[in-house]
Amino acid sequence: MYRLFRPLLFSLDPELSHDLTLGLLRCAYRVPGLGALNHSLHTHRTPSLPVEVMGLQLRNPVGLAAGLDKNAGCVAPLADLGFGFLELGTVTPRAQSGNPKKRMYRIETDEALINRMGFNNVGLESFLVNLSRAPRVCPLGINIGKNRDTPAERALDDYLLGLRSVYPVADYIAVNVSSPNTPGLRALQEQETLAALLATLKSEQDVLARTHGRYVPIALKIAPDLADADIGAIARLLLAHRIDAVIATNTTIARPGLENDVTARQSGGLSGKPLRALATHVIRQLYRELAGRIPIIGVGGIGSAEDAWEKILAGADLLQIYTALIYRGPAAVREIVAGVASAMRSLGATSFAEARTIHAESTRKRVT
Ligand SMILES: Cc1cc2nc3c(=O)[nH]c(=O)nc-3n(C[C@H](O)[C@H](O)[C@H](O)COP(=O)(O)O)c2cc1C
Repeated sequence: MYRLFRPLLFSLDPELSHDLTLGLLRCAYRVPGLGALNHSLHTHRTPSLPVEVMGLQLRNPVGLAAGLDKNAGCVAPLADLGFGFLELGTVTPRAQSGNPKKRMYRIETDEALINRMGFNNVGLESFLVNLSRAPRVCPLGINIGKNRDTPAERALDDYLLGLRSVYPVADYIAVNVSSPNTPGLRALQEQETLAALLATLKSEQDVLARTHGRYVPIALKIAPDLADADIGAIARLLLAHRIDAVIATNTTIARPGLENDVTARQSGGLSGKPLRALATHVIRQLYRELAGRIPIIGVGGIGSAEDAWEKILAGADLLQIYTALIYRGPAAVREIVAGVASAMRSLGATSFAEARTIHAESTRKRVT
């Protein structure tokens, strides 16, 4: 069905077609029966592949990556596409309009997007109102960030406010220090700054867990544009500060394989196919250091079950997609879950950790 709509959507400006699609989905859910139809078209047809990560029970390991529903305005329609979980946001303390338009570009030949949205969002207060109106259909991560005009030395205050505000309603909280479109944000990944940020968030999480009688995991979302030594250092900080998960990766400022593409000269973060190998490399480096002690949420260029399997073998325990949803439509979710389930069956594995062990063992045997 998406194949019919795609030419129309792709004839429009990317951001307009994004807004239009979410708007139409929201309207459709006001018509009795259409939500149930969407649910039965997608969720019902997505195989069950239950996993438990960060203490959360998920019906399958494929989630929606942050940035598509920044305002928690389309929760039920998106969950009904068959996702195992959704990550909403990035939400900042105060509403902000983001960078000037035009700020999103398609590179169709490579199934890629470049965006420099700049955290356009309605702010925490309206986000929470929207979320309070949404039915809880699957686990929800909430991705928090800082406002553009908050000076670097006050960044921590924005994250603390975000953490405290979303804690009661989130199933996990993603701390975004990796968007390339907010000046200075990615400097928060530097060792000393990151150590201070993680220590503060962790101790606040302890306080909040006691206050609310409920432990909500924290995941750190990192960039793909890090040197191996920095990835190792971040992994060690995550362990030292007992952070619950890491999301790898955000969009890249590099342009791998797109050196001759005119659109690729646009500034912003690149997502989709060209990001795939870079993101997988970061996951592999993280896994080397973490060795399963902290789960990895793998994201970046996943468009097929093979791409998903590559991320799982590299060390991912959960997966997220964004750009593939734009290029391939909701069927991508079902196809990825079905393909991963079938790869698990043919390996005789009951968990991703076991799949990695069996795969490593068979690779070792082939080599010796
Ligand atoms: C238009 C657009 C907006 C995004 N906004 C956010 C955001 O607000 N916060 C965030 O953490 N990631 C954001 N991302 C990054 C995605 O969550 C994801 O990490 C990245 O796109 C790589 O996955 P993909 O190749 O499957 O798209 C955005 C991506 C796109 C394409």
